[in-house]
Amino acid sequence: MADATPWPTLQTSRLALRALSFEDAPCLTRLVNDAEIARMTTSIPHRFPDGAAEDFIERMANCDARREGVFAVEVRDRGFAGVLGFHPGISGAPEIGYWLGRPYWGQGYMTEAVGAAMTWAGDGWGKRYVLSGHFTDNPASGQVLIKTGFLYTGDVLPRYSAARGQEAATRMMVWLA
Ligand SMILES: CC(C)(COP(=O)(O)OP(=O)(O)OC[C@H]1O[C@@H](n2cnc3c(N)ncnc32)[C@H](O)[C@@H]1OP(=O)(O)O)[C@@H](O)C(=O)NCCC(=O)NCCS
Repeated sequence: MADATPWPTLQTSRLALRALSFEDAPCLTRLVNDAEIARMTTSIPHRFPDGAAEDFIERMANCDARREGVFAVEVRDRGFAGVLGFHPGISGAPEIGYWLGRPYWGQGYMTEAVGAAMTWAGDGWGKRYVLSGHFTDNPASGQVLIKTGFLYTGDVLPRYSAARGQEAATRMMVWLA
């Protein structure tokens, strides 16, 4: 089986953003099986089913890398810590999404990861703009996006959260290359 997304490995001072591998599946499953992660996302269910990590990695390995893909976020000397991905939204424009396992929160890692990913999205992937959105009760993600150059569009949209089982108000943001 191929690993996910033939994208480059991005190095930052503390992180590597690299291809997601089937070897990451057990660690990914252990870290993401956390209600406080799942409920801040649209698509991650809670509890996280057995086999879902492998299915996700397989799907990402076969996706169109011009339109979407994912990086594993690896903390140097600590290993796999989370996932950062770009997926086409309703309009077809790329939307960034991400999560980190709880032991890695509050240390500036995701700001570092998103910063590197956005530089690559503009200069390497060739995107002129990228969208994102965070639930109104997730200010930490809003801070990550603000610090990496995203601006609020003013749109607040209802978006379904699988883990909540209902829609949640989502503040939309945009990044321009
Ligand atoms: C959101 C998430 C990725 C942040 O990762 P992280 O590495 O801890 O983020 P960073 O440390 O780079 O930055 C977090 C910022 O939010 C701020 N913050 C944290 N909790 C906050 C709160 N309750 N209110 C306001 N700001 C908050 C931090 O102070 C920090 O900003 P600062 O550096 O200016 O002080 C992580 O908490 C996570 O995975 N959460 C669950 C999944 C998720 O929310 N995904 C995003 C969906 S849109």
